[in-house]
Amino acid sequence: MSGVKLVGLGYATGNQKVTNDDLAKIVDTNHEWIQSRTGINSRYISTEENTSDLAVRASIRAIEKSGLDQEEIDCVIVATFTPDSLTPATACLVQAKLGLTNPNIFAFDVNAACSGFLYAFNIADALLESKRVNTVLLLGADVTSKVIDWQDRSTCILFGDGAGALILQRGDGRCEHIAHSSGDLQGHLQLKSYPLIKDFKQTHPVESLSMNGNEVFRFAVKVMREAMEEMLEKVGCSLEDIDLLIPHQANIRIINHVLKSYNFNRDKVLINLDQCGNTSAASIIMALAQADEENKLKVGSKILLVGFGAGFTWASTYIEL
Ligand code: ACO
Repeated sequence: MSGVKLVGLGYATGNQKVTNDDLAKIVDTNHEWIQSRTGINSRYISTEENTSDLAVRASIRAIEKSGLDQEEIDCVIVATFTPDSLTPATACLVQAKLGLTNPNIFAFDVNAACSGFLYAFNIADALLESKRVNTVLLLGADVTSKVIDWQDRSTCILFGDGAGALILQRGDGRCEHIAHSSGDLQGHLQLKSYPLIKDFKQTHPVESLSMNGNEVFRFAVKVMREAMEEMLEKVGCSLEDIDLLIPHQANIRIINHVLKSYNFNRDKVLINLDQCGNTSAASIIMALAQADEENKLKVGSKILLVGFGAGFTWASTYIEL
């Protein structure tokens, strides 16, 4: 059993609010369809800042709230599938932009799509527990708008841009993780990188996210429910014991399906997808940071995080503050 302390949290969104009516001007859709099929009313798109910039803004807020000297940070992990560049890692860009100069610092990215933050949390916790590091700046950040086909109405309505930051240290609070993947289902949700060069003179086509929405939906409901059950069994709780549930914010109908066989108080389920859309690796940490801002995180609170993403990947983290 490991223990963590959430020392500071922050989040940032893209600069431009885009409503469903705004999207109806560029693709054949309408507010009613988007709202009823997804629960999304609007999202924030970043037209001025890249992934590392949103991550930096979220980090500045988290550092301020932590009251720490930023030189204490000796590890930066960014969960993202939309890095500024394939290399260097977005975490290195964040380190440089924040001016973090702890002599022992190291920085790297984790890509598990929308499960990325939970995967990164798992790694950060292990690094802290092994005393390899003392203070981790842990981020989920995605600017999915730059990899979306804005002519594809089945995907462009779903996503928003954002970042969330958490400063993590060892502490008394209990923390448990589970993580899974199933690479054989990769084709249902993917964003291809550079293809192999068959003809060295060819120009690479620009790829955008492709998705088989119905398969993703079915799979997400199944694995989110399984992950929740697995975690509850691991920590010896029932869902009713949980004070805050933060599911990955992909679609309100996925969340409703996951919860439909439970009599769980919906006031304890944090939702930001109505205002933010699916912010991918940022969604869970943004919701956690928003909960902190609303003073919903109390000593002793039991928090259950559960997510899924391309890969497929899925994961859950339990925190007892
Ligand atoms: N506006 C209007 N009509 C639309 C739109 C739109 N934006 N998009 C699709 N349609 C149409 C389709 O063309 C189809 O028309 P047809 O019946 O004439 O062929 C009809 O609506 C129904 O399409 P479906 O795909 O069956 O609609 P569904 O109710 O399944 O909703 C959706 C689609 C919202 C994408 C849903 O499948 C979904 O949310 N899937 C999960 C996607 C998801 O969570 N992705 C996250 C990926 S990243 C991550 O978080 C891991």
